[in-house]
Amino acid sequence: MSIIVDHVTKSFSERNRRRQSKLVLKDVCFEVPDGEFVSLLGPSGCGKSTTLTIIAGFQGRDSGDVIVNGRTVTRPGPDRAFVFQDYALLPWMKVGENITYPMKMQRVPKEEREKRLDELLSLAQLQECRDQYINELSGGMKQRVALLRAIACDPEVLLMDEPLGAVDFQMRKLLQLQLESILMQKKVTTLMVTHDVDEAVYLSDRVIVMGRDHGNILADVAIELDRPRDRTSEKYHGYCDQLTELLKTALSGEVFTKEDEDIMNFIKNAEIESRRHC
Ligand SMILES: Nc1ncnc2c1ncn2[C@@H]1O[C@H](COP(=O)(O)OP(=O)(O)OP(=O)(O)O)[C@@H](O)[C@H]1O
Ligand SMILES: [Mg+2]
Repeated sequence: MSIIVDHVTKSFSERNRRRQSKLVLKDVCFEVPDGEFVSLLGPSGCGKSTTLTIIAGFQGRDSGDVIVNGRTVTRPGPDRAFVFQDYALLPWMKVGENITYPMKMQRVPKEEREKRLDELLSLAQLQECRDQYINELSGGMKQRVALLRAIACDPEVLLMDEPLGAVDFQMRKLLQLQLESILMQKKVTTLMVTHDVDEAVYLSDRVIVMGRDHGNILADVAIELDRPRDRTSEKYHGYCDQLTELLKTALSGEVFTKEDEDIMNFIKNAEIESRRHC
């Protein structure tokens, strides 16, 4: 299953200025070939989530096409699973029920749902949590449950909006490992939005850098490294440096929001770290 984003333009009408609209995406074009893992990196507000939700079919576009596996996207569908940044889990249901919910909606027989649930829980080492409620879980566990729910129905396309954004550094590294092993086994076509350069290099086959000028694509970088990736290799650092420079260009030295501040801090720390190694 491939994703083709073909000259997509999207504007939103401004609340207090009835006649004016804000152009967010203009002629955005890129492709995610079958089975590839692509990350979308860029400053806050450049249109990453908007792009992802248009591909998911949650919202329309003004012009241009989104084609998933040869079909034009007009609405959400079970072929495309979405992982939200804030998990979007159902708090009144237990972990197992949350994961099997999409299968239930698709009328998968109970016996098959239970079998699949066992497989998924063991994949993410969450067997013990099957009967716990969502509010009894840590952030990292919730993140894993959200991911399992998304892949429960074997989607052909996985769309993730900063899926690891809300967990701490250690947990993030652990989840990156798990995410990699889950997705490499399944070879799902994946598009992930992230702010984290290292995460993008670690997980992706390609990284697309989006700029502030109506979602203009600043670069499309193929990450040609063997898996599992060696974070200590020179080539790995080379990719991180290249993407960091591109992000700096995208930010143009200005800091607008908390997320941009995080990116700038990340860049500063990376520079200090690399000077220390010189
Ligand atoms: N429903 C909406 N109505 C009006 N404006 C919107 C709407 N959704 C998004 N926008 C605007 O579109 C622009 C792009 O938003 P989007 O959420 O796609 O950015 P983003 O790149 O995902 O940012 P972040 O990294 O902070 O999540 C922003 O200026 C935002 O205010
Ligand atoms: Mg966003």
